[in-house]
Amino acid sequence: MNKTVLINLVYLLASVLFIFGLKGLSHPRTAVRGNLTGAAGMLLAIVVTLLHQQIVGYGVIIAGILVGGIIGAWMSFAIRMTAMPQMVALLNGFGGGASVVVAGAELHKVLVESAALTTDVAIATAASGIIGAVTFWGSLVAYAKLEELMAGKAVLFPGQQVINALLGVGALLLAVLLVMNPGAAYLYWLLVLTASVLGVLLVIPIGGADMPVVISLLNSYSGLAAAATGFVLYNNVLIIAGSLVGASGIILTRIMCKAMNRSLTHVLFGVLGPTSETATADEIYAGKVKAATPDEVALLFDTARRAVIVPGYGMAVAQAQHAVRDLTNLLESRGCEVEFAIHPVAGRMPGHMNVLLAEANIPYEKLKEMDEVNPTFEQTDVALVIGANDVVNPLARTDPHSPIAGMPILNVDYARTVVVVKRSLSPGFAGIPNPLFAADNTLMMFGDGKKALLELIAALKTA
Ligand code: TAP
Repeated sequence: MNKTVLINLVYLLASVLFIFGLKGLSHPRTAVRGNLTGAAGMLLAIVVTLLHQQIVGYGVIIAGILVGGIIGAWMSFAIRMTAMPQMVALLNGFGGGASVVVAGAELHKVLVESAALTTDVAIATAASGIIGAVTFWGSLVAYAKLEELMAGKAVLFPGQQVINALLGVGALLLAVLLVMNPGAAYLYWLLVLTASVLGVLLVIPIGGADMPVVISLLNSYSGLAAAATGFVLYNNVLIIAGSLVGASGIILTRIMCKAMNRSLTHVLFGVLGPTSETATADEIYAGKVKAATPDEVALLFDTARRAVIVPGYGMAVAQAQHAVRDLTNLLESRGCEVEFAIHPVAGRMPGHMNVLLAEANIPYEKLKEMDEVNPTFEQTDVALVIGANDVVNPLARTDPHSPIAGMPILNVDYARTVVVVKRSLSPGFAGIPNPLFAADNTLMMFGDGKKALLELIAALKTA
C-alpha cells in the first residue's frame, strides 16, 4: 500500500477515535474512557506523523517530547484544582503560539526552496498567523488575570473598541497583501505583530467574572488556528482535530454564557450587566443573620426526611468533598434521603462540582441538575449549602439591577430550612451581598467548609 494512503487511513482512524472520545467526555460515567480514547487517537496520529517525512532528525523530536513531557507531567501534578482555568488558558495559548510558529516556519521553508506558495496555502498561513497570535496573547492575559499577576478587573480606556476595530482591519489588510505577495514573509510577521496587540487589547477589558467564558472561546480559537495550520501543512488529522476543538469550544462558550445569563457580545465587548444599584451588605444583613453551631444543625437533621446538598466554590477551596461523602452516608444510614443540586456554573470551571464529588465516590445518580432539582426544594427539609453563594442568590430573581439579574439559580430559599456553611458573610464571585443569608428560614454555620462538616458529623454521631 502507498505510504500516503496508509498515513491518511491511520489519520482517519485517529479522527474516529477523537470523535468517540468527545462523545465519551459528554457524560461523567464515560468521561475517563472518552479521555483515554481521545489520547489513543492522538498517540496514533503522532506516531504516524513521525513516519510521514523526516524534516528534522528523530533526536530533536525525542528531545522535544522529553522536555515537553516532563514539563507537562510536572504541571499536572503541581496544579491546584482551583487553578485549573488558568492552566487551561496557558495550554490554549501554547496551541495558538505553536500554530503561528509552524505556519511561519512553513512559509520560510517554501520561500527557501523557491517553491510557489499557492493561494489556498497563503490564505491558511495568514489565518494561522492571525488566529494563533490573538489566541496566544489573549490567553497569556487571561492567565495573568486569573493568576493575579495583573489586576483581574476590566481595563477600559477611551476609544478602545475603535482601536480594536482598526487593528482587526489592519490584520485583515496585511493578510490580503500576503496572499497577493506570498514571497514577502515580512508581511506575515507584521500581521502576527498586529494580531498580537489585538489579542492583548481584546482580553484586557474583560473582567474576572467573564474570564472562564473567554478561556473557552480562546480554546475554540486555538482549534481554528490548528485547523488553518492543517491546511498549510496538508495534514488531514490536524484539520479534523482543530475543527473538533473549534466547534466544541464554541458550544461550551454558549452553554456558559447561557448559565451566567450573559450574551457573548456583552462578554467580549466589556458591556457590563445591569449596574449595581443593589442594596448594600449592611442593609441586607443588619440584625437579621442567625448563626448556628454544629450541635444545633445536627438537631435539625434528627427529623429531616429529605436533604439537598448544594456545593459551590467554597467546597473546592476547603477540599470538603470527602467530608461531604461521609455526611451523606451518615444521613442516609439514619433514613434521610440525600441528593445534590448542581448549578452549571458553580465553582470556577464547567463540571467543577461533578469532578470533586466523583473524586469522593459520590454516586452520579445523586447529582441533580438545576431544572430537575428546583421543583423539589419545597419538599426538602434541609438545604445544606456548602461554600456556594452566587448560584443560590435570590437577587438574581428579584433585583433587575443586580449584576446577576436573570441568572437561573438554585431555589434553596424555598426549602423548609436552609443551612449555609461558609467562613463569613463575604460575597462570592459576583461581589454582591446575598439576602438568603438573612432569610427567616436560613441558619449560618460559619467556618471552613471541611472543618464545619467534620464538626457536624461528630455532633450527629453523638446526638
Ligand atoms: P461563589 O459565589 O464564588 O461563592 C463562593 C463562596 O465560598 C464565597 O462566598 C466564600 O465565602 C466561600 N468560601 C470560600 N472558601 C471557603 C472555605 N474554605 N470554606 C467554606 N466556604 C468558603 O461560588 P458559587 O456559588 O459556586 O458561584 C460560582 C460563581 O463563579 C458564579 O458567580 C459564577 O458565575 C462564577 N463563575 C463560574 C464559572 C464556572 S464555569 N463554574 C466560570 C466563571 C465564573 P467566605 O469567604 O465567607 O467563606
